[in-house]
Amino acid sequence: MTERPDRDTTATPGGGATARRGGTTAGPVIEVRDLWKSFGDQEVLRGINLTVLDGETMVVLGPSGCGKSVLLKHVIGLMKPDRGSILVEGNELTGLDGRELKDLRMRFGMVFQGAALFDSMTVGENVGLPLKEHCGIEGDELADLVEGKLGMVGLAGASHLQPSELSGGMKKRVALARAIALDPDIVLYDEPTTGLDPIMAEQINQLIRALQRKIHATSIVVTHDLHSAKFTGDKIALMHEGRIEFVGTMDDLRNSDNEAVRIFIARGYASDHRTAWESRGERQ
Ligand SMILES: Nc1ncnc2c1ncn2[C@@H]1O[C@H](COP(=O)(O)OP(=O)(O)O)[C@@H](O)[C@H]1O
Ligand SMILES: [Mg+2]
Repeated sequence: MTERPDRDTTATPGGGATARRGGTTAGPVIEVRDLWKSFGDQEVLRGINLTVLDGETMVVLGPSGCGKSVLLKHVIGLMKPDRGSILVEGNELTGLDGRELKDLRMRFGMVFQGAALFDSMTVGENVGLPLKEHCGIEGDELADLVEGKLGMVGLAGASHLQPSELSGGMKKRVALARAIALDPDIVLYDEPTTGLDPIMAEQINQLIRALQRKIHATSIVVTHDLHSAKFTGDKIALMHEGRIEFVGTMDDLRNSDNEAVRIFIARGYASDHRTAWESRGERQ
């Protein structure tokens, strides 16, 4: 059972997500509506609203501790909200449990903060795990699929390595390969460049961009790094005090007079090596 019935296998190389769906205007794939979540007395999500369109990459920016990972965990069904709604292609996710939630989750790829590889498994076993567990693929077929995914992240031939033999950047690549193992429609990235040196961070940004072109997934990239946001995002959402304060392009963000936006930029919530982000000219 390697084929997934919901998958459109007619997609052609270079055809974007919109083309895949017959040239119609991109509709919403993820809709978060008035989402609330508290831990004890601490209100972390206070009415989040966010819409991500088909094939789009939405960056969620915000300072450390503002609730970005909590938001992603809700979108993938790992946490339940106190109230509010999350629609994935029109299907309500918040009420799902067991088998239904598992089926829906198979459409997501998630790159967890810090890569989260299994240290006792080889690179190939890490990447192949979802294919083995969810699709029962084994043997040469599994090895071929794993090699294909590793090739997509620039790690062809690395299948036999142990995670302990990898640099931080390579671990993130393996995490990306594992996230796309099941050909997801939606990929969620939690702080994909955090903890990497500037060169590796740049390579991961470029890889994310290249993967988006290749697999045409709808994506959410969570980060506190303005440079990464600028490089990977079609749109930027700024999270502030438990709400989405602003959504727009990077240029919109730069020109916004929204107070939360100005404060975020002024405080320089770029990664350490990118504090001069506004003076740089990439992707303009
Ligand atoms: N499972 C949990 N139990 C209690 N508090 C949590 C839990 N997960 C996150 N928090 C709190 O929610 C806030 C937001 O966390 P998080 O989403 O991880 O922030 P970030 O924006 O850095 O990803 C933090 O204050 C954190 O301590
Ligand atoms: Mg986080």
